[in-house]
Amino acid sequence: MINSFAYVGFTSPSAEEWRSFGPDILGAQLADHDDDGAVALRIDDHAARLVIHPGDTNDVAYVGWDCGDTSGLAAAVAKVEAAGYTVIHDDRAAAIRKVAALATFTDPWGFRHELTHGLADCGAFTPGRPMSGFLTGDQGLGHIVLMLPDLDAGLRFYIDVLGFKLSDHIEIGISLRFLHCNQRHHTVALSAVPGMVGVHHLMLEVNDIDDVGRTFDLVNERAIPVAMGLGRHTNDFMTSFYVRTPSGFEIEYGAGGRVIDDDNWEIETYDAMSIWGHKPPSDPLFPGMLHPFTPAAASS
Ligand SMILES: [Fe+2]
Repeated sequence: MINSFAYVGFTSPSAEEWRSFGPDILGAQLADHDDDGAVALRIDDHAARLVIHPGDTNDVAYVGWDCGDTSGLAAAVAKVEAAGYTVIHDDRAAAIRKVAALATFTDPWGFRHELTHGLADCGAFTPGRPMSGFLTGDQGLGHIVLMLPDLDAGLRFYIDVLGFKLSDHIEIGISLRFLHCNQRHHTVALSAVPGMVGVHHLMLEVNDIDDVGRTFDLVNERAIPVAMGLGRHTNDFMTSFYVRTPSGFEIEYGAGGRVIDDDNWEIETYDAMSIWGHKPPSDPLFPGMLHPFTPAAASS
């Protein structure tokens, strides 16, 4: 089954802007990419974990999950097929993503999921600017927060079909559910936005809290829009800020995230998102990668 978040791809009219945003702001390393002029970014010794493809709209192109090995992938495929989805083995995509094997299906909200294993080791990571590196390994790429029209249906899909476990709840007028598949407090979070589907943010965790502060300074010096300033979350303890990417979604750039021990974990409900901080700017940024949900489009 799914062990970790392996990689993610987006389409964007602003893909080319990531060629500087990725290394200069995030500290990612530009990687070679043999498909369609995409900007591919490494954040560790593996092949690219974040790829921005040129496209007409800002959207998610695919979300890649590491299933561990051949048998883990087979188990994940069997479970998804048993839930009624058509899963297609895609060797061409596997070669482009640099994974050993890849099987893909589309979920009820139109997201293309890629069940994989064996993301290639591509040698030592060299950050795009001096920094401490990113926390990945068994905890995977980071986390992604999705906006879905129906929270209960989303939970059923991620828990019953993909095998995630509930970490906790936040109720702040909007409802958020946090889900894990390894020690990372959450790899996926879901928020309910009636009639809409989209991505709120992608979280990248760095190894040193000073890199969060230095990057926050850099973002402010360059006048790059910030959706939420520095703060620390109630549930995963992440100290972070949220920067608007060239493609309309946010990257949460953080350090110090909590890890989960499944043997001693109690699911709690929080009535605040942050212990301190995470204040929006005076002119708030609204989610920029959010589309009306049309079931017909999702199933096409
Ligand atoms: Fe987050």
